[in-house]
Amino acid sequence: SQEQKRSDYDLMEQTARYYQQQLRHHANAQLVIDYLKGRGLSGQTVKDFGIGYAPSEWEALCQTLGKNPKQKQQLIELKLATQKDNGRTFDFFRDRLMFPIRDRRGRVIAFGGRIMGQDDNGPKYLNSPETRIFHKGFELYGFYEAKQAHKKLEQLLIVEGYMDVVALAEHDIKYAVAALGTATTNEHMQMLLRATDKVVCCYDGDRAGRDAAWRALENALPHLKDGKALKFVFLPDGEDPDSLVQQEGKAAFEQRLVDARDFSDVFFSRLSDDIDLTQDAGKAKLLSLALPLIEKIPSEFYQENLLERLARFIGRTREQLNAKLKTPRQQHR
Ligand code: UTP
Ligand code: MN
Ligand code: MN
Ligand code: MN
Ligand code: MN
Repeated sequence: SQEQKRSDYDLMEQTARYYQQQLRHHANAQLVIDYLKGRGLSGQTVKDFGIGYAPSEWEALCQTLGKNPKQKQQLIELKLATQKDNGRTFDFFRDRLMFPIRDRRGRVIAFGGRIMGQDDNGPKYLNSPETRIFHKGFELYGFYEAKQAHKKLEQLLIVEGYMDVVALAEHDIKYAVAALGTATTNEHMQMLLRATDKVVCCYDGDRAGRDAAWRALENALPHLKDGKALKFVFLPDGEDPDSLVQQEGKAAFEQRLVDARDFSDVFFSRLSDDIDLTQDAGKAKLLSLALPLIEKIPSEFYQENLLERLARFIGRTREQLNAKLKTPRQQHR
């Protein structure tokens, strides 16, 4: 119900505030603040993103915001607390640096938590599981903050991690967003390409990052209308936007965005990666891989562009490709 939702958002906001207070007052506060400083973050950026600290104790949040049974139940339902078989509840996030995730209206709907203690063997990042107010594939970390920072978003940069978004903002690059520990979905791409005319993908310089880039490209195709640009930056091995902007600063990093590769180049270079285009079998393979993807693009301009290039790659004329299309197009002159 509406009432339930309002109360959920309220509890999430109170939780975010609680974690922020802990960042100032918990016994571990100095360690965590030193960690943030070590990662190059200023107090202002920490404040802008509402970064906090989840105490190392088992029931710190439960004892503060779950005093009555109804509240405790709500903490469990919002996945801020976990209930054991023996009925005991404990905090879901413990001894973690906390990143509140806001929806596009600025309401806190989930958290990402980075591990602090070295001895703990949990995952480096723990994200809120889905709840009645949090649907992962539809939310982007930093989207609200980016919209707050700009009247008109000239471009949006999509990166992998919370720290990437925050470190870029620290360097006055306040238009980065991150998918929440999942792949960049079709819905993410739709959101981004509705909000701005230029989307630049900049994932980590590793195998996973390159695979993520390809999935993002595939998911973006149905949203490439005329006037929309999709670009890709591939980072040096072992680097991510955070590490790189710390090393080289704003201007050099933004130059990478200017030099970004167009999606159409990435499209053909990835598809023909292990194809021998001097052989007929290879040409047929490229044709069968590329056509169904090209047909997903709503922009006739981009579609035509890719079809012309595809024809050249496989040594056919543009007209010959027409027969292969599900919905043949009138040729542009
Ligand atoms: P990375 O491992 O690249 O994290 O994961 P990072 O941001 O560079 O981490 P730092 O610099 O060591 O702090 C990128 C993103 O993937 C998700 C998180 O959203 C993270 O920000 N992730 C990563 C998880 O959900 N769980 C993990 O265990 C690791
Ligand atoms: Mn990574
Ligand atoms: Mn990374
Ligand atoms: Mn990193
Ligand atoms: Mn710096």
